[in-house]
Amino acid sequence: MSRHPRDFHPLLRLLHWLMALMVLAMLFIGVGMVSTAGPLYPALLALHRPVGIALLVLVLLRLPLRLLTGAPPLPADLPGPQKLVAKASHVLLYASMVGMPLIGWAMLSAGGYPVVAGSVSLPPILPHDLQLYALLRLAHTVVALLFFALVLAHLSAALFHGLIRRDGVLRSMTSGHRR
Ligand code: HEM
Ligand code: HEM
Repeated sequence: MSRHPRDFHPLLRLLHWLMALMVLAMLFIGVGMVSTAGPLYPALLALHRPVGIALLVLVLLRLPLRLLTGAPPLPADLPGPQKLVAKASHVLLYASMVGMPLIGWAMLSAGGYPVVAGSVSLPPILPHDLQLYALLRLAHTVVALLFFALVLAHLSAALFHGLIRRDGVLRSMTSGHRR
């Protein structure tokens, strides 16, 4: 993640906003799903699985594009520790976007449940093992909570840059021009 072009690649910006919407939807669908034992449960799960797998496919396209095209540099007057936190939080956001769908897929595999994404039935990525299922089910909840907190911190940071510092960082992900 070291190249410094003037702007984010337009496809990276498109993927950022598309995936941000999908991630938010997934977090709310997930929580909604486990909070209902009613008739909505199967419909929510039928939405949760394919959107989660689509996120995995998109992040696997986004990461190489990001590594190839780089990111514009953060403002020169931003303190070093803030730059470090920004970069670390982006790495963690990418890790969550890869990790959450993989944990979901692995969890259903270990539980012996089908992993259906639309009309495609995906193969299990782990053997049937109920102890492993219980562990991954817990991991799916804990990582989702951490992901939620990270997204909230990221949103606050974006608003801090856009409304208080007005340093072009928010603009670099919207209209595309940092300066
Ligand atoms: C970015 C991707 C994902 C996010 C953000 C996400 C988020 C969540 C959240 C917040 C919950 C509720 C957890 C709880 O309160 O205990 C949940 C549950 C669940 N998720 Fe995901 N998930 C993702 C991907 C996936 C994928 C790819 C699958 C399967 C292929 C999956 C399968 C499930 C299942 C089966 C449940 C629990 C249903 C239950 O125990 O009743 N998730 N997810
Ligand atoms: C909801 C889920 C979201 C996720 C998973 C997410 C993820 C990411 C990631 C991984 C990056 C790093 C981009 C890169 O270097 O390749 C990024 C950058 C950025 N995001 Fe988000 N984002 C989300 C929501 C938002 C929202 C709601 C806003 C604004 C209100 C926002 C504003 C920005 C900005 C301004 C940057 C550029 C930061 C920089 O240049 O260093 N993001 N986001």
